Amino acid sequence: ADINLQAIHDEMVLVAYEAGRTILSANPADIGTGTKLNSVDIVTEVDQAVEKMVSSRLSAAYPEFSFMGEETYKPGTKLGPEPTFVVDPIDGTTNFVHSFPNACISLGLAIDREPVIGVIYNPYQDLLFTAIKSHGAYMTRIKGTTPQKLPLAASPRPLEGLANALLAIEWGSSRDGPNYELKTEVFKKLAATKETGGAMVHSLRSLGSAALNIAAVAAGQMDAYWEGGCWAWDVCAGWCILKEAGGIMAGGNPGQWNPSVDERLYLAVRGAPSGQKELVEEFWGVIGDKK
Ligand code: IPD
Repeated sequence: ADINLQAIHDEMVLVAYEAGRTILSANPADIGTGTKLNSVDIVTEVDQAVEKMVSSRLSAAYPEFSFMGEETYKPGTKLGPEPTFVVDPIDGTTNFVHSFPNACISLGLAIDREPVIGVIYNPYQDLLFTAIKSHGAYMTRIKGTTPQKLPLAASPRPLEGLANALLAIEWGSSRDGPNYELKTEVFKKLAATKETGGAMVHSLRSLGSAALNIAAVAAGQMDAYWEGGCWAWDVCAGWCILKEAGGIMAGGNPGQWNPSVDERLYLAVRGAPSGQKELVEEFWGVIGDKK
């Protein structure tokens, strides 16, 4: 049967708003908090409660679809070709725990391993980013009391290389081993002057939510976002929004997305009349053969 992406998208938006209300009504001071892989890989009761609500609502509406969520993910599970909701109930959990108002719910739908719907909602700013494959990307914000739905499109400003870029990067949760070495080396090279072999980017930002970083790139507020350790639920929704806004997602294996533990390097580049491919090449040059 034909899949009605618009109807699924509309349901996902309702679910995202409900998740947003739960996130806002929680008091981070008295919620249960635990850790996963290490002491900085934080999970809270609210992450788990939101994921439960999201999975029960989406599986009730679309029982034949698969579901991959951050809090119920079983290591080794691969994304299959069947329609799959790919969900991060709170992307930016560390911010949430610290009451730093930059976190979101990230809801994606992938079909044949391609993100075809993206819904990202930041309840702190009442800011919603949405996209459906081939139907454009939008940002909905409240102006006064009225929701304003604005199309996201490629910026008329060309990309002028890393040296003129504002980049988002994240520390993520690996703080030792090859991934940590790679991240710190890349950050250092991006910031350093040309004379010392660096790219001397305009600046680097670390705002604590992978999905909101990708949304910022899609909206043309950042030139690019790189992270050395993303999971499928960090990128699925944002990927669709970015692409529909004219941006590109490059990664360890562009073109054949098959997220797994081994495929976690992503680079999102904003839409522009020119310079996207060159920026990607320049970036992989900074990373060298570790890509
Ligand atoms: C994390 C955040 C963080 C990024 C990590 C993500 P979470 O998601 O997006 O900014 O650096 O890689 O896993 O744990 O808050 O859902």
